[in-house]
Amino acid sequence: MPKESRAAMSKRWLSERKREYYHLMAKKEGYLSRAAFKLIQIEERFHLFKGARKVLDLGSAPGGWLQVASEEMGEEGLILGVDLQEISPLGLPGVETLVGDITSDDTLNEIREFFQGKVDVILSDMSPDVSGNWDLDQFRQIHLARVTLVIADELLQRDGWLVVKTFQGAEHDLYVQEVREMFEQVKIVKPKASRKHSSEIYLVAHRLKSPRRLPEGFRPEEEEEC
Ligand SMILES: C[S@@+](CC[C@H](N)C(=O)[O-])C[C@H]1O[C@@H](n2cnc3c(N)ncnc32)[C@H](O)[C@@H]1O
Repeated sequence: MPKESRAAMSKRWLSERKREYYHLMAKKEGYLSRAAFKLIQIEERFHLFKGARKVLDLGSAPGGWLQVASEEMGEEGLILGVDLQEISPLGLPGVETLVGDITSDDTLNEIREFFQGKVDVILSDMSPDVSGNWDLDQFRQIHLARVTLVIADELLQRDGWLVVKTFQGAEHDLYVQEVREMFEQVKIVKPKASRKHSSEIYLVAHRLKSPRRLPEGFRPEEEEEC
C-alpha cells in the first residue's frame, strides 16, 4: 500500500478532529446528529425559517435537522420529516414523521395529504447507502437531488427556500445549472460543520422563477424506456 504523505496525514487528522468536535458538540447540546450544525450554520446565514409555517425535511433520520427546524419555528410550525428509516418519536412541537421512499408515488401522496397545499421550506440532507463504487454513489445522489427538484416544483411556495445536499462529481455542474433554471437565487454552500475534504456541499435556492420551469424532460416519468 502506498505510504500516506505527511500533508495527507495532516488533512486526515484535522478532518477527524473536526468530526469528533461536532460529534461531542451534538451530544452536549442534545442534537441527534452532527448534521444539525450544518443546518444551524445555513440558517445563521440565510434565515430560511423566518416567517415559515410549513417545512418538509427529506431524509430526516435520526432527526437532527427536525430538531433545528422545530427550535426555529416553535409551536406555530408544521414540520414533516420523511425517511426510509423509522425516526424515534422526538416529542417536538409541530413535528410529524413518515417512513417512506421519496421516490415512490405513495410517499408523495402522503406528503400531499399531510400539507394540503404548498410549503415554505424544503430541506434535503438525503444520501444513498454508500456502495463503495464512486460513480454509482454519485449517480444515486444526483437522482435523489433531482427528485427533490420535482417535489419542489410541485410543493414549494414561489418565494420559498430549498436546501439540498449534493456531492461534487460528474453531473454536479449540470445539476447546479438545473437548479439555477428553476430558482432566482442559488448559492453553493459548504457549512463549517461539513468536513472540508468531503465532496459534500449544499445548494441553497430561493424563490422559484415565474412561470415555474422544471428543466425539459426532467420528470422521472418522462424518461424513455429502453
Ligand atoms: C445524512 S442522513 C440525514 C441526517 C439528518 N439530516 C439529521 O440531521 O439527522 C441521510 C438520510 O437520507 C435517507 N434517505 C436516503 N434515500 C432516501 C429516500 N429515497 N427516501 C427517503 N429517505 C432517504 C437515509 O435513510 C438517511 O437517513
